[in-house]
Amino acid sequence: MTTILISGGGRMGHLLVALLSQREDVQILWHTRRAAEIRRNMPQEGITMVSDGQALCSGRPAIVTDDITEVAGKADVIIFTQTANGRPEAVRRAASVIRRDRPVFIGAIPGCGGFDWLVGKEIGRDPNIVVWALRGVPATSPKMDTGRSVILGGFKDKLYLGFGQDVPLGLREEGAALVAHLFPQPTEMLSHFLEMTLSPLGFIHPSVLYARMGPYSQWDGKPFTEQVRWWADLTELAAYFLERCDAEQQRLIHAIEGALGLELKGAGTLHGKVVDQYRSLIADPRTMLSTFRTCSAFQSRIPMIEAQGGGYLFKMDHPGVREDLYYGMAFLLELGRRLGVEMPYMTEIYAWTVEFLGGPEASALEYLPEHWPPSRPIAQLRNEETTRFV
Ligand SMILES: NC(=O)c1ccc[n+]([C@@H]2O[C@H](COP(=O)([O-])OP(=O)(O)OC[C@H]3O[C@@H](n4cnc5c(N)ncnc54)[C@H](OP(=O)(O)O)[C@@H]3O)[C@@H](O)[C@H]2O)c1
Repeated sequence: MTTILISGGGRMGHLLVALLSQREDVQILWHTRRAAEIRRNMPQEGITMVSDGQALCSGRPAIVTDDITEVAGKADVIIFTQTANGRPEAVRRAASVIRRDRPVFIGAIPGCGGFDWLVGKEIGRDPNIVVWALRGVPATSPKMDTGRSVILGGFKDKLYLGFGQDVPLGLREEGAALVAHLFPQPTEMLSHFLEMTLSPLGFIHPSVLYARMGPYSQWDGKPFTEQVRWWADLTELAAYFLERCDAEQQRLIHAIEGALGLELKGAGTLHGKVVDQYRSLIADPRTMLSTFRTCSAFQSRIPMIEAQGGGYLFKMDHPGVREDLYYGMAFLLELGRRLGVEMPYMTEIYAWTVEFLGGPEASALEYLPEHWPPSRPIAQLRNEETTRFV
């Protein structure tokens, strides 16, 4: 029996509880700040995954708790599913009870925000700690009913799996077998965790907001008359900013490749990555705009609240936007600064969005290693470290 702790009770947490419970040799534990509400709402069969109004599967976790220290010591596998701003606190608290006498697979879905750096800082690099993550999510979900059900948007065609730099081959193979057992899609292995960290996602929500409400938009500051979707209703201006930010991120990736002596092909471009992973769900994959507009997995709405007097206003405390901003763009810009890569579009969009959302907050810079990039190419360091563990 493999004991899996899922941390985070948002849509991804709900989806994974329902999905992974289908394996008979798996026991699910669930940590979420919403534990009380979930326990109150959850029917006997547990969380149900729903598509087109049909129940696809249900699963009930053995424990639901808001205290991660109650469950992290029992887990063989931990999957952090929170938005990246929720992860530092959960990882920090879990660190005190995680077992050190056998391999524990500490993962993130999605593996954004420099997750290996976070684990390195809060948990350390003991040989039993196997850091892993999936690039992106195995399936999307636009909506959930807390403690009861979660709507499936669509499954990705394939998954990309990455491991922390120190993880020796034997444990990588064990981790890959586990992921293959848990998820139905074929999985490709990334060669370096940076391919996950540099996967072009951090700028996507801020780019859309900047286009819809920023200085070049037609927004007059009054409530919107209707609620629109992030991707299915993408505007041409938003697609333009996505393209510009993507190009800047590619320049950053090339600079990092040069500095570290690595190839990071797995990071991909934004358009290429979406087409690669969702091809069967995209009606028209020609351009950034057509791809986002016609991918059936991307139906989530821009979060809005009803305004007094009618209409809708942007919900300022949406965690996904803050995740991109402080755990995506902030460290991309910092890496660019350290490597001398100019990123004017990202700089402009970042500055506007930070101000729009009310000012700076905690960010991934808190665990980004101070001395990075290392003075010697990583390829050399990796050979030495591999020798240490094999
Ligand atoms: N849903 C999708 O289709 C989709 C698609 C692509 C990527 N993702 C990614 O999947 C991850 C989870 O997204 P989601 O859709 O599940 O988000 P969500 O439904 O908005 O849920 C947010 C989650 O983050 C946690 N959280 C938010 N703010 C927090 C804070 N300040 N402190 C601590 N925890 C906080 C909540 O944890 P508690 O339950 O403990 O409160 C909750 O689990 C994100 O990285 C997101 O970018 C999701």
